[in-house]
Amino acid sequence: MNTEPFITIALPKGKLFNLSTELFAKIGWTAEGLSEKSRKLVITNEEQRLKFIITKTADVPTYVEYGAADIGIIGKDVIAESGKDIYELLDLGFGKCHLMMAVPKDRKRPTLQDYAHTRVATKFPHIAEQFFTSQGMQMEYIKLNGSIELGPIIGLSESIVDIVETGTTLKENNLEEIVSIMDATARLIVNPVSFKLKFERVNSMVTDLKKILATD
Ligand code: PRP
Repeated sequence: MNTEPFITIALPKGKLFNLSTELFAKIGWTAEGLSEKSRKLVITNEEQRLKFIITKTADVPTYVEYGAADIGIIGKDVIAESGKDIYELLDLGFGKCHLMMAVPKDRKRPTLQDYAHTRVATKFPHIAEQFFTSQGMQMEYIKLNGSIELGPIIGLSESIVDIVETGTTLKENNLEEIVSIMDATARLIVNPVSFKLKFERVNSMVTDLKKILATD
């Protein structure tokens, strides 16, 4: 019987899920029934000693920080917002997006500073606060968990700080980007203890992934 310890991989539901499973499949890391739609949240490959767990996007760094997952795939934006103590091993290149501030087109103020002391709706209050503080601005942060663009439309806030990928959501909601805050892509993260204890397998996975990424 194989008694080698399992490697647990946290994968986020949403835009990065399929790209992540496709990448792992290229290095032979798969499990039967691994799908975003799966109602089963832990999908195990006994033979390869792999466990995939399917989590909410914002929770991936938490699972990895506590070692409940050894490794995970998640956007740089979510890592920065979480402030968790984890190692970032690889920039996977996919999931390109950027975090920015946007406002309603028809209520655009002349300068960024004209938004000081107004309300900003965001899923990323820590990154937003760091940014506005660096601009010498105090703001009121309203934490939302999704559909951030609604904030200024229905008068909850004057602006948003959110992710833009294609720009479609901004356009469809008559919002305009006024300042870019950070660029992001998907990253491979690892728990620092797992990195030491499971070094051989993690390191050989990183080597294999690097080869795939170089040829993609
Ligand atoms: C993200 C983000 C924007 C949208 C941007 O939302 O919060 O709403 O994607 O993408 P686009 O520039 O390609 O239109 P997500 O789909 O993750 O949903 P949620 O924030 O409403 O949970």
